[in-house]
Amino acid sequence: MGAIVWILGLCCALSVVLQTVGADEHLPIVLRMQRTVASDINNVLNNPSISEQCKTRGITCGSCSSVMICSHEKQTVGSYECSSIDAQRPYCTGNGVCTNSMEEKCKTPSELCPPESTGSYYPVPGNCSESVYCAKDNTAVKTSAPSSSYYFNSIKQSWTLRKTAADCFQINCLSATMQNKFYVYKPNPQLYVYCATFGPMTFKCGANEEFNESKRACEFACKKEGNVGIPDGNGGFLKDRYYSCLATASGSFQLFELNCPVGLIFIDDDCKLAPLSPPS
Ligand SMILES: *[C@@H]1O[C@H](CO)[C@@H](O)[C@H](O)[C@H]1NC(C)=O
Ligand SMILES: *[C@@H]1O[C@H](CO)[C@@H](O)[C@H](O)[C@H]1NC(C)=O
Repeated sequence: MGAIVWILGLCCALSVVLQTVGADEHLPIVLRMQRTVASDINNVLNNPSISEQCKTRGITCGSCSSVMICSHEKQTVGSYECSSIDAQRPYCTGNGVCTNSMEEKCKTPSELCPPESTGSYYPVPGNCSESVYCAKDNTAVKTSAPSSSYYFNSIKQSWTLRKTAADCFQINCLSATMQNKFYVYKPNPQLYVYCATFGPMTFKCGANEEFNESKRACEFACKKEGNVGIPDGNGGFLKDRYYSCLATASGSFQLFELNCPVGLIFIDDDCKLAPLSPPS
């Protein structure tokens, strides 16, 4: 009897361990306060006016994230990044005090946040071990994977265990040959990146769309089986034609553009008889 209880207990313990291992494959992203991409990219490169000049002798903010020491001669005699002293207090405010909250004037939108971003995580194109949290106002907070064995998973919005080298997809906009071109973000083709000379800019296609590099445009992509209306460009849908997504043998979906039979119009998800116009 004792042995059976013991074995049952062992089984439970094992299943708990297995469950934990399974759950660890995708880790939720936890925001840690760090120097933001907004201050890296926009303040420094797009908006150098945010860099301050020495006005009086003493300590002051040199930028949104750094402190500088000024002489009587209004010369900068030294400076340091707040994050290099304490990663929890990366922002410079007031008279050169490092804190954990950014000053209003420093909250500039980040080019890593598509305008459609509403409180979700987006990739840092050059580093799969990082992501940015984009707030509604398009300001970004950068966050890093708990270890290099995890990569940012844009679809799952998590850190995911790295199994093959291909899991880490990166676009290195710093290389000159990459610049001034569009790239699809392959792990989530709804996203695409333009490599500007100052760094990457992230864009997002519509809900049912993916970016086509050769066309440099977003286009409809099948994500599940079924019929979908074709946008008419005025917020409505075409009446005589529709997209049809059919499952293939490999488990993906093939896109067809089909015509409705004469006399029927496409409504919601199928070709139907036009509804009678309501009595006036
Ligand atoms: C990518 O980001 C991680 C975490 O922030 C950092 O440790 C690593 O050095 C970065 N890699 C590159 C190539 O910049
Ligand atoms: C992109 O468009 C080209 C030209 O129409 C097409 O041949 C290609 O299959 C498309 N690529 C993807 C990934 O859909």
